Amino acid sequence: MNIEILSSTAKIAEAGAQAYSDLLAKKPDAVLGLATGSSPLPIYDQLISLYEDGAISFADTRAFLLDEYVGLAADHEQAYRRFIEEVFAGKVDFAPGAVQGPDGDTGDPFAAAAAYEQKLVDSGGVDLQILGLGTDGHIAFNEPGGSLSSKTHPQVLTEQTRADNARFFDDNIDEVPQFAITQGLATIMRAKQIVLVAEGSQKAEAVAQMVEGGGSALWPATVLQWHPNITVLLDEDAASKLKLADFYKAEARGRRALARLENK
Ligand code: GLP
Repeated sequence: MNIEILSSTAKIAEAGAQAYSDLLAKKPDAVLGLATGSSPLPIYDQLISLYEDGAISFADTRAFLLDEYVGLAADHEQAYRRFIEEVFAGKVDFAPGAVQGPDGDTGDPFAAAAAYEQKLVDSGGVDLQILGLGTDGHIAFNEPGGSLSSKTHPQVLTEQTRADNARFFDDNIDEVPQFAITQGLATIMRAKQIVLVAEGSQKAEAVAQMVEGGGSALWPATVLQWHPNITVLLDEDAASKLKLADFYKAEARGRRALARLENK
C-alpha cells in the first residue's frame, strides 16, 4: 500500500484528482469506479474544476458505482445513482447512460446483483476505483463477517453503518434502508488501481486495521493489503493510530525520489 499522510483536505483532493488526470491522459476511454459517501467529494470537486478548465474530459469514459440501497427508486434523494449525478456526474461531460449503478429497486436484489457483476465483467474491468472507508472497516457496503472473496451481492447493513448514514436521512435511523446491493470484495479487488480516501479521527481505528491489522473478515478493508496498486490518502487524524506513520511519510518522499529515477 502506498500511504500518503497529507496536511489538508485540499492536498488530498489534489492527489486524488491527479490519479484521474494521469489515467485519462493515457487512456481517455478508461472505466472509472466511483464511490459515494462524503470522503470522495473534495476529489470530485477538484475534478469538476479541472473539467471546467478544459484540462480533462469524461466524454469517452464509463463509470460504475460501488453500491446502492435496496428499495430506493433511482430518483430517491438518497439513492446513490441520484447522489453521484448531483455531486459529480451531472457537472462534467459523461455521455448519457455512461454512469451506472446496481439497481436496488427491481424487487429481486439477487438477480440485480448478478446482472451488475456481469456488467462489470463485460466492461473489461475498472481502471481506477475510488473508495471511502466505513468506521466499521467496510468498503462499499461489504460489512464485517462477509466473505473476503465475495462478488456483487445483496448485503444486510450493520446498525453502525445505518447509524453513520442516518445523517443523510434526517438523522432518523429507521429511514435508512436495511439492505444494499454492493460490489463484493473480489469485485473491488479486480480494479487495476485503487485510491482510498479517509479523513477524521472517527476513521482512525478502521485505517489502522486496514493498513496494519491482520487480514480478517472482521475488518473487510484489510483485503486491500493484497492489492498490488493502491494508494491510501489520509489526513493526520485518520492516520493517528498508525504505528508506522513516520515511516510512511519518509517512504512517500522516497517513492517520489524513486519515481524521478524511473523517468530519467
Ligand atoms: C457508506 C458507503 C461507502 C462509504 C462509507 C463511508 O456506507 N457505502 O462506500 O465509503 O459509507 O462514508 P463517508 O465517506 O461519508 O464517511
